Amino acid sequence: MNQSSSRRSFIQQTGKAGIAFGLSGTILPSLVNASVNTGSSEFAQQPLPYAFNALEPAIDTTTMDIHYSKHAAAYAKALSEACTAENVNTTNTRLESLLRNISKYSTKMRNNAGGHYNHEMFWQTMKPGGSAAPAGQLGTSIIQSFGSFESFKTQFADAAKGRFGSGWAWLIINSDNALAIVSTPNQDNPLMDVSETWGTPLLGLDVWEHAYYLKYQNRRPDYINAWWNVVNWDVVAARMK
Ligand SMILES: [Fe+2]
Repeated sequence: MNQSSSRRSFIQQTGKAGIAFGLSGTILPSLVNASVNTGSSEFAQQPLPYAFNALEPAIDTTTMDIHYSKHAAAYAKALSEACTAENVNTTNTRLESLLRNISKYSTKMRNNAGGHYNHEMFWQTMKPGGSAAPAGQLGTSIIQSFGSFESFKTQFADAAKGRFGSGWAWLIINSDNALAIVSTPNQDNPLMDVSETWGTPLLGLDVWEHAYYLKYQNRRPDYINAWWNVVNWDVVAARMK
């Protein structure tokens, strides 16, 4: 599957997730937050597909609210400003294409295009209660690449713990269809042409302090351990396809 169809599949899946939660009676944060842009553009912040408290106890309600409503919203807003200033037509430009050519743009564009993409993916690859460990092609590939699922989790957690300062840990698939674990600083990601290692992100973990400090303070390893309980492996597997 190419990048464009992969992205469309991702959006279609996440859209269904939002509808499902809406029908179940859970109040979606986006429906009570008038500042959220619910447009279809991949450059705009999309509705969170679960309530702010839905990932408790792994991620506390206040952190989720501030993270989505303030931090991620700010990235989307600043991305819009950068696109206007740098003549990026968001109606006919793919966000992934922009990221693959990010060296041609400003630091503001780099930080906020990355910040927006990374967070949109982050929300969608989590769900209340998580999902069972990956099976099928993804499960097989993880075992082939890292020895076992537990070994993969250890190596991924090490990348997340080892990221000095702010950044992300990633599971990526590269152009040879091989899986790899990498880490990027700030709001960079492995799609960017400035990244040390290239690949398509399948799963990302935000290890900025804004993602965990209210509950975990300096205990980043505890946050990482708890986060495994809310990973949506179904979405990760769909991204791999
Ligand atoms: Fe974040």
